[in-house]
Amino acid sequence: MSEPSATKAFVIGHPIAHSRSPLIHGYWLAELGLPGSYERIDVAPEMLAEFIAGFASRGFVGGNVTVPHKEAVFALLSTGGHELSDEARRLGAVNTLVALPEGRLRGHNTDGAGFVASVDEAVGSGWENEAGTAIVLGAGGAARAIVGALLDRGLRRIVVANRTPAKAEGLRRFAPERIEVVASADLAAPMREAGLLVNTTTLGMKGQPALDLDLADLPERAIVADIVYVPAETPLLAAARARGLRRVGGLGMLLHQAVPGFEAWFGHRPAVTPALRAAIEADIGAGA
Ligand SMILES: NC(=O)c1ccc[n+]([C@@H]2O[C@H](COP(=O)([O-])OP(=O)(O)OC[C@H]3O[C@@H](n4cnc5c(N)ncnc54)[C@H](OP(=O)(O)O)[C@@H]3O)[C@@H](O)[C@H]2O)c1
Repeated sequence: MSEPSATKAFVIGHPIAHSRSPLIHGYWLAELGLPGSYERIDVAPEMLAEFIAGFASRGFVGGNVTVPHKEAVFALLSTGGHELSDEARRLGAVNTLVALPEGRLRGHNTDGAGFVASVDEAVGSGWENEAGTAIVLGAGGAARAIVGALLDRGLRRIVVANRTPAKAEGLRRFAPERIEVVASADLAAPMREAGLLVNTTTLGMKGQPALDLDLADLPERAIVADIVYVPAETPLLAAARARGLRRVGGLGMLLHQAVPGFEAWFGHRPAVTPALRAAIEADIGAGA
């Protein structure tokens, strides 16, 4: 009699070599002593539909979806009797896939919840009650997820500034009465009222220019978050440290967004611990 096969999950993207998700899930599998695997699979766009239709019959219970496939997987799951979570529907993007019985799939998006969990971890829960205005810099995929999650947390005023203002305007459809769009040059007034400022642009990432923003107008209670996690301390976070403000780095979002997928595939809710964080930071440091 053959052994029951170990649970298998994946991350797909194109390219995918840079993904740190295998390290995170591999860490949890080892920590919990589970006999599963989590592998990187490079899926070219023209092969995506075939991969999505066939992964469950190849023994995978699900996986993560990353650039450039999040929107395409959403489109594929929009027909054929599949399930999409409210978050995935709102964003039009899937980052977590779970195989269901009878060939059906469930698509979910955990990026926004991962971000707010990272803020909870860094500063303690309840920050949303005193945040007042939140400023979101950028209007790409990550910004959409974060704006959605901030609305879910009850933030009453979200000010979005983006290089391409039309993309920021597009975010207003989530809640036109709670979301404002301002030019980057006009941030001084909202900054005076902001309890949270989040960078979701690529600025500050290794190899990219720094974000050019004076934090002098932020109140002392403000939290500054940067979802860029290479380097661990971006120029924005260094400026926030110099002002003595509370800070949230991007690694926390990466770790927390992974939790629901692991739980769905392997049946155990994993913890985001200082040891996990140190392991991923060491890997980032080695690659920097
Ligand atoms: N920590 C995490 O778990 C996590 C998760 C997701 C993403 N991220 C990071 O978040 C960043 C954004 O990801 P994304 O998926 O949202 O990317 P995206 O959809 O491509 O959006 C990129 C954003 O950056 C802005 N931008 C790019 N270059 C700029 C420049 N030179 N000046 C001003 N703005 C610029 C874009 O503005 P335009 O609209 O004008 O082009 C857009 O708002 C990336 O660094 C990514 O690694 C981190």
